[in-house]
Amino acid sequence: MSTDPNGQAGQTPLCELQGVTKNYPMGDLVVQALRGVSVKVYAGEFTAFAGPSGSGKSTVLNCIGCLDRPTAGKVYVEGQDVATLSDGALGVVRAKRIGFIFQSFNLIPVLTAFENVELALRLSGAPTAGQKERVEEALRSVGLADYMKRRPAQLSGGQQQRVAIARALVKTPALIIADEPTANLDSKNGAAILDLMRSMNADNGTTFLFSTHDPMVMERARRIVRLSDGSVVGDERHDGAVQAASPSHVGA
Ligand SMILES: Nc1ncnc2c1ncn2[C@@H]1O[C@H](COP(=O)(O)OP(=O)(O)OP(=O)(O)O)[C@@H](O)[C@H]1O
Ligand SMILES: [Mg+2]
Repeated sequence: MSTDPNGQAGQTPLCELQGVTKNYPMGDLVVQALRGVSVKVYAGEFTAFAGPSGSGKSTVLNCIGCLDRPTAGKVYVEGQDVATLSDGALGVVRAKRIGFIFQSFNLIPVLTAFENVELALRLSGAPTAGQKERVEEALRSVGLADYMKRRPAQLSGGQQQRVAIARALVKTPALIIADEPTANLDSKNGAAILDLMRSMNADNGTTFLFSTHDPMVMERARRIVRLSDGSVVGDERHDGAVQAASPSHVGA
């Protein structure tokens, strides 16, 4: 068993990596992106994966978000071993249960803010009735009530990232994954986006997992899991408790 400094008695983790390794073949070589990562995330967390460039942050998020499959080890989402799911079933988990926010916003340029958010809701298979109201509410909640008809090119970077947050939120997913959500924003807009995510977490209990190497972003996290060279090397709570990864933490 791995140590579980963040465990909550009797609760099933929202997602869990158990001894996850990920290798990428590169010609004759193999890049070991993850070397036995074990981590449990519980509902309601606001957790950052931190570490230098190349340490494996995006790979961890991609495995948790079912965008990528590990080379070895297990990934559980809501208690389900995702290795047992077909690609089609994984697509359904992604569409319904997980919201994604990317550093480059990834909005569809020809669609308005409203249409970008509406498309995500439609793809999640949500009932048609009430969709318009849900889209409007999501955009209102990120402060974009007056910008719904604009296309991404007519919005600032910070506003585009707000659309991306609304698009992730509108499905009311179990989990929102954000890979370097502030990397393309100046520090003022970056702080505002983090504060917005934090208030969604506090007010609605939405679970956020994000990656960063920005200290300003890290300081707003309630838990920081530190990665180095594909391994977990630290796991800290906002209350200051530090749990260095022990060998039993790795590989479990
Ligand atoms: N598709 C791929 N093919 C080959 N190697 C890859 C691939 N994706 C990632 N890697 C390698 O895996 C390692 C971890 O990459 P990852 O993108 O997870 O790091 P990161 O911590 O997100 O870095 P950054 O802060 O630069 O975004 C790196 O050495 C990277 O070069
Ligand atoms: Mg990355």
